[in-house]
Parts: sequence; C-alpha cells; structure tokens
Amino acid sequence: MLADEVKTIAVIGLGTMGPGIAQAFAQAGYYVTGYDVNPRAAETCKKVISGIVEILKEFGRISPSEERASLDNIAYAGSLGQAVQDAHIIIEAIPENRDAKRELYRQIDDSAPEGSLLWSNTSTLNIFDLVPPHRLGHAIIAHWFAPPHIIPLVEVVRESGVSSETVQTTVDILKKLRKVPIVLKKYLPGFVINRIQRLLGREIFFLLDNGYIGAEALDLAVKASIAPRMMVLGLVQRYDFTGLDLSASNLADESFFDPPIDNHPNALHSKIKKGDLGVKTGRGFYDYSGLDITEILKKRDRHLLKVMDGVQFCLEKGRLV
Ligand SMILES: NC(=O)c1ccc[n+]([C@@H]2O[C@H](COP(=O)([O-])OP(=O)(O)OC[C@H]3O[C@@H](n4cnc5c(N)ncnc54)[C@H](O)[C@@H]3O)[C@@H](O)[C@H]2O)c1
Repeated sequence: MLADEVKTIAVIGLGTMGPGIAQAFAQAGYYVTGYDVNPRAAETCKKVISGIVEILKEFGRISPSEERASLDNIAYAGSLGQAVQDAHIIIEAIPENRDAKRELYRQIDDSAPEGSLLWSNTSTLNIFDLVPPHRLGHAIIAHWFAPPHIIPLVEVVRESGVSSETVQTTVDILKKLRKVPIVLKKYLPGFVINRIQRLLGREIFFLLDNGYIGAEALDLAVKASIAPRMMVLGLVQRYDFTGLDLSASNLADESFFDPPIDNHPNALHSKIKKGDLGVKTGRGFYDYSGLDITEILKKRDRHLLKVMDGVQFCLEKGRLV
C-alpha cells in the first residue's frame, strides 16, 4: 500500500502511548479508530487528547483546522474486529508482553484487510516472529518516544521479510506527520536509542551508588553540557570536534575503567523496595508528593515545547557541513 492510499488508522491500546499517537494521525487528517480492552480507556483517552490539543495550541503548534481534526477524527470501537476491519494501518500499542502481542496479532489477522500494514510500538521485542507469517511483508516496528505528541523521532525497524513498499510507506506517512523516521535495516533488541540509554544507565547508577555525585547535581551537569551540545552535534560528529586522536586516547585510557555490570543497582532497587517508583507514586529520585501528576506532566510538556524551537532548528537547518 502506498502512502497516498492510506486514510484510516486503528490504534489498539490506549494507555500511555496510544492517545498521543492517535492525536498525531488525527491532526494530520487521518481517520482514527481507537480500541482498548479496558472499557474506561476511551474516556481517559478523550481527556488526554483534549489536554494535548490545549497545550499544542498554547505553543502555536496546531492550527484551528488541525485542532478540530484532532478532536473530530477519532472514533472509539467496542470490539477489536470493529476497530481494524477498515483500517489501512493498525498500530499496536499494548503492553510489552510477547504472548499478549502474539495473541493480538492473531486476532487482528481474523478481521483486518489483507493488505493493511501492522505497526508495532514495541520498545524492544522482536515482533517479526510473532506476526502470522503471511502478514510479515506488511509488518514493521514503528517505535515512538514519549511524549509522542512532542518528541519527533520514530525508530522504524524492518526485517528481511518486510517489503520495501511497507518501509517506504511507513517513512512517507511519518514524514507527513512531521515526525523524524530513522530506519534500522534489521532487528536489534532495544533498537538504537534505548540501547544508548541502557548503557548510560550503567554509568549513572555506578556514579550514584558509589556516592560520587547526587541525582540533582548529575542532572544539572548534563543539562549544562552534553545535552545542548548533542542537539547540535549528535553523538558521532562530536568526535570530529574533540579530535579523533584525543578521542582514541581517551577511549584507550585504562585509568577511566568501565563501571562493573550491575543489573540490580542499589540506587534503583532501594527506592523500588520503598514503593517509590517515580512520578506515578509521587516520589522517585525527586519528590513530587502533594503535586498533581497531570500538572507535572503538563509542566514537562511545556518545558519540552519551549526547547522544541531549538530542536527543530537543529533538525532542519542545523547541519554544519
Ligand atoms: N510508555 C512509554 O514511554 C513507551 C515509549 C515507547 C514505546 N512504548 C511501548 O508501547 C507499547 C505500549 O506501552 P504503554 O506504555 O502505552 O502501555 P500501557 O500499559 O500504558 O497501555 C497499554 C494499553 O493497552 C491495553 N491493552 C492491553 N491488552 C490489550 C489488547 N489485547 N487489546 C487492546 N488493548 C489492550 C491496556 O488496557 C492499556 O490501556 C509497549 O510495547 C511499550 O514498550 C512505551
């Protein structure tokens, strides 16, 4: 299926990621049908999407017609079959569980049109061995980042059985949504960005666990140094500016020593034991107790939208050569 033929989208799973993905499609003029096994999810989704529209409006990132489309172009289905029966693209955004995803793909196969595309929002799973084999040519990973109404990157992961047309249509549509698709030619657990974040996690928890620095000071150090520089130079071009010779000797310097592999760092697990799971429980590395979670999320979105002009500049005009 070519991008111009795509008009209708089904979003399956309306939890953390589904609503923002549905809104992005509706804003771009697609007709979206949402479905979730939890019957209360549709109501919550409507509220989340109203909040997204409100905040995009505040920052001049949505026109009046896009605002109307975001609210009017989304319907909710009472069954999976109803949601997918006319869909050109089916977006799976249910929890990260192999068996649940495999079973959902089997059910989708019963009702979805034969040529429809199946996009999975999985963060790490190899979905290519979960989809019914005859759907493989039309199945792809399109991994969005939270919050999906703001962060531009979508990692697109293919496997050898996936048709080139599926990849091209996926990329074309994401560009229509003003997203930034990056294609990986074959599956790798965690794709690219989550692999880098995992590696960073090892060093972060090593530094915290061994008392070298506290959480706030570490965050401040990052925001005041590598975060803005990464926006201009990414990760690889940075080496050109440091000098490849200096980079090579830094890498070879054994006095740096790598953090030991510790998949259960105390910095994380001591908090989990106390029930401190982050924003959702009111406390994590920082204290949010007494604050309204919705307001905290809105504040995060506002701060992100403030820096998005700079991000957009770096994405569009920021090439140095
Ligand atoms: N949360 C994130 O920041 C994030 C970011 C990128 C990718 N992802 C990936 O996106 C996917 C969804 O993650 P999430 O955080 O939105 O999950 P979530 O748990 O917040 O929401 C999942 C929703 O799916 C519904 N659901 C479960 N089984 C279903 C079924 N069979 N049919 C229909 N609905 C069903 C649940 O009721 C729930 O509302 C996962 O694969 C996850 O790894 C998550």
